Amino acid sequence: MKAFNDLADFSNDEIAALLALANRLDEHPEPEALKGKVLSLLFLSPSLRTLASFQAAMVRLGGGSFVISPDMSIHGLETRPGIVMDGTAAEHIREAVPVIASYGDAIGIRAFAERKNLETDMAETEFSSLTDLIDTPYINMESAMGHPCQNLADWKTMDDLSIPSNGKFVLSWAYHPKALPLAVPASTLYTAARRGMDVTVLRPEGFELPGPIIEKSRAAAEAAGGSVIETDNRTEAMEGAQVIYAKSWSSTAHYGDRIADQKLRNGLESWCVDDPWFDNAADDCRFMHCLPVRRGVVVSESVLDGPRSVVIHEARNRMLAQMAVLYQMMGAGA
Ligand code: CP
Repeated sequence: MKAFNDLADFSNDEIAALLALANRLDEHPEPEALKGKVLSLLFLSPSLRTLASFQAAMVRLGGGSFVISPDMSIHGLETRPGIVMDGTAAEHIREAVPVIASYGDAIGIRAFAERKNLETDMAETEFSSLTDLIDTPYINMESAMGHPCQNLADWKTMDDLSIPSNGKFVLSWAYHPKALPLAVPASTLYTAARRGMDVTVLRPEGFELPGPIIEKSRAAAEAAGGSVIETDNRTEAMEGAQVIYAKSWSSTAHYGDRIADQKLRNGLESWCVDDPWFDNAADDCRFMHCLPVRRGVVVSESVLDGPRSVVIHEARNRMLAQMAVLYQMMGAGA
């Protein structure tokens, strides 16, 4: 495997093989599988789970890793192309990325969306500008529109919990005081669709997901026997739902315009997932979220701490899913 960037790059058989490998490595650890291998981890955006789970995954497979992020005591990093570096930054990303990559057998890169221009972010311009600098196998640890490690872990979580592959999946917008990236909602929608689920995107007006993301997911759902619809009607969306996956995201109607986005989200505080949301859902409807999550803002404490919530299971599956990816990328059969 040369890159783990988007589940769309993998066939159904390849995804099934990764999920089976994640289960096998959990049940039958292979502590020498990646002996002598090194994973470089470049975090240009913050993290808890991704940072910890990749390091844990490498240790469990017998390899090692190192982390570089701008808030460590490294030289100030310049990211702008074509710049005269007469300011404070002493190192350009054009040298830093290949140098970091050269120390490892694979590299993980996290670079969130700039959230200035929707087309630029949809085209993954920044992430591609980084991966274009290297020949080393790479893993997308969250880019402008993608979070494939989260997606694989979430797919595994639904399999673990025997949530039917043709079940009803609600991806719900939730209130958050800040405009957040589209990577998780966009790639989660695609993942549930690709799994063959009947997906409802529940969101207020102005927070529609971009057309190309809906179209890509709808095509994947139809190929797998599922469907994708969008609504702002919570009762209709939650009818018979087997999963509600909550996430806040930026207004696509006002992408890159912080003030207009803020105006639109003011008054939407009731979009906090709470017990009454489940009134007409399936009895065993699960609550999913990639974390971090704001208690009492995105989801009530009662739901988050209650039996429906599988957020810790999802987070542990990050490590297992990534072990499978690392094994295929750097292991003996790679
Ligand atoms: N879900 C997720 O990617 O968490 P972090 O941002 O903490 O890595």
